[in-house]
Amino acid sequence: MATRVVRHVSELTTNDPTLGDYSALGRLFDAAMVIDDEQVLWVGADADAPDADEEIDARGRAVVPGFVDSHTHLVFAGERSDEFEARMAGVHYDGGGIARTVATTRAATNEELHRGTRKRAVELFNGGVTTVEIKSGYELTTDGETRALEVASAFSDEVTWLGAHVVPPEFSKNRDGYVDLLTSSMLDACAPHAKWADVFCDRGAFSVDEAREILTAARAKGLAPRLHANQLAHSGAIALAVDLDCASVDHCTYLEDEDLDLLSASATVATLLPGAEFSTRSPYPSARRLLDAGVNVGLATDCNPGSSYVTSMAFIIALAVREMAMTVDEALYAATKGGALALRRDDVGHLGVGARADFSILDAPRAAHLAYRPGGNVVERTYSRERLKD
Ligand code: NIG
Ligand code: FE
Repeated sequence: MATRVVRHVSELTTNDPTLGDYSALGRLFDAAMVIDDEQVLWVGADADAPDADEEIDARGRAVVPGFVDSHTHLVFAGERSDEFEARMAGVHYDGGGIARTVATTRAATNEELHRGTRKRAVELFNGGVTTVEIKSGYELTTDGETRALEVASAFSDEVTWLGAHVVPPEFSKNRDGYVDLLTSSMLDACAPHAKWADVFCDRGAFSVDEAREILTAARAKGLAPRLHANQLAHSGAIALAVDLDCASVDHCTYLEDEDLDLLSASATVATLLPGAEFSTRSPYPSARRLLDAGVNVGLATDCNPGSSYVTSMAFIIALAVREMAMTVDEALYAATKGGALALRRDDVGHLGVGARADFSILDAPRAAHLAYRPGGNVVERTYSRERLKD
């Protein structure tokens, strides 16, 4: 297998604490890295770089691990910019617009759905995302959710069944009937096409008891649980996520002290989605409370047409730093290693020896430019073992 050496890296963030400055970000300056088509083979000082079949000259630029975007809803059709405009004029977000995207997605052809998903996946990749989780959840029928999972599978192996996004209009007078469908024939059809199951457990969506029933049924069919929780209101959803050993509990805007205690003693990552607070003009979650309590924190785009039509992880990092008082290093770590933990992956989100050779060269001497130059094209070039599936 051909080897490549990346030379003249001004600042190399590995997220491997055994490397470089031995911090959590395992940082090296004036560094080099050797990779093959699959993995990182060597990391060290540029002066010590071994020969390789090919050289990539980073020309004094920073290198970061590929971003791990652990929460997206890329499979949808249509758009809801009118809702965004109304929100900016003072209307409150309550998730009620999801039904509009369900209608436009159901009406889309397979080709339209695939094309739109691909466009958004490419935007993420060009912005440095090399691992992306993709949810279904805008069809809410057995055939439709299966179709959405098939589309998602063309772009990622991290595919999540979110049949429990909201109760669809045709079940509005029979929500128990929808939960029955979710836990029986829809789950049977969807389970072979997904790795994860997620439930939107919040005011206006599913209750804690319903979420427990749905995720327990999904787990029995081999799907690993994750949860949308506490975006719109307090609930017992974080305790549920920890109890079910969810890989991640996402949003976490409303937090009680006991939620922090539960999370810090668990392997469940708190994934923050500041694109949603930005786009709905809502209060941001308290990243500091989580970090100071020792909770593992992830950052993701939550790309969806309602609450966060964001395809830039650099923008998410900038929001986390500016609006949630995370340090630049905490935000970068949460967007890489934090995302990997939220997907229970140890082969991505870092550049230690043996990691997947997924990284970006920045158009900047330091990774801090990701937050320092919001809205700019700071990610110059992304390298990934798989490029983008499809
Ligand atoms: O993560 N909260 C639930 N789902 C999405 C919103 C989806 C929508 O508004 O279309 C979210 O914010
Ligand atoms: Fe979401």
